[in-house]
Amino acid sequence: MLKIAREIAKTLLPKSTIYSIKRQREEKRFQKYTQEKLELNYRLVDSGFAPPKELIAKTAAFNEQELDRQSNNDVYFETGYWEILRLFQILEHFSINPRTIGSIYELGCGTARLLRHFRCIEGVRLVGSDVNPEMIEWCQQNLPEIEFYRNELKPPLAFAEDNSFDLMLASSVFTHIPLNTQELWLAEMQRILRPGGIFICSVLGKFHASTLLGNQQLQELETEGSFTLTSKDSNATYSTRLGGSGWDVIQTRAEVIRVFGSYFHIIDYIPGVQDFLVLLKSNPAVSVVINPVPFPAQKF
Ligand SMILES: C[S@@+](CC[C@H](N)C(=O)[O-])C[C@H]1O[C@@H](n2cnc3c(N)ncnc32)[C@H](O)[C@@H]1O
Repeated sequence: MLKIAREIAKTLLPKSTIYSIKRQREEKRFQKYTQEKLELNYRLVDSGFAPPKELIAKTAAFNEQELDRQSNNDVYFETGYWEILRLFQILEHFSINPRTIGSIYELGCGTARLLRHFRCIEGVRLVGSDVNPEMIEWCQQNLPEIEFYRNELKPPLAFAEDNSFDLMLASSVFTHIPLNTQELWLAEMQRILRPGGIFICSVLGKFHASTLLGNQQLQELETEGSFTLTSKDSNATYSTRLGGSGWDVIQTRAEVIRVFGSYFHIIDYIPGVQDFLVLLKSNPAVSVVINPVPFPAQKF
């Protein structure tokens, strides 16, 4: 009954109202969850400003048809809250207490759609970097509590010392890093993560293969393990065609395990619209008990 009422409301309400309702729902869920888990380490923070639409489009637009929705401010915050809550839930699934996290680094932070929400952890050091100077300038001007740096297309990250971060993220970034530099970046991420630290990152797997690639390209993906679309390819994502990045890199699960598994211990591979990897930098001094139950896949 409630479902029917919701469907009817959807057809009657303006889209902007629906987007706003969904954003508020996700914001409340995130605040409730983090307040409960962080207890005394919780800090109530607002969402911060929304970036200009052109910057959202360069980081979050899958196709032209849905551009209006995907570059809407409320949708930007809704997806940010949804994804950051899921990251907290992944940490909980692997018994990682967010109160023990002292430093977080995000590679390819874009407009800090995700990183900004970690401000709710009292006293945490937050660092983001991106190859795109427009994103970093906007972040530096609008999110003064976070350290932002521009990085080059290839490592090293001059601002980051060895073993300096407890948690690292790269959401929708290795998805745009060409294969010849992926391993350089994995080695760099391994260098700056502390032993026993967790690195959560995403790759483009089955969902993007079936949505973006034609039959011949799919065959090549199967035989080679990866397929790269450039910003000039008409079937690349809209963000990539706009110049948000140069490439969309699609990889088979076996190839991802081979490449990422050479640098980290893969503790989970979570299928979804983007597949998420939970990577651990082993620490010989600490025996980590890994949850043998996989984190639930994202439905799509
Ligand atoms: C799809 S956006 C995702 C942005 C952000 N992680 C988010 O989830 O909203 C991809 C981002 O990765 C950045 N990027 C691509 N290659 C990079 C590299 N080698 N180093 C740092 N950033 C990179 C792009 O500039 C862009 O901001």
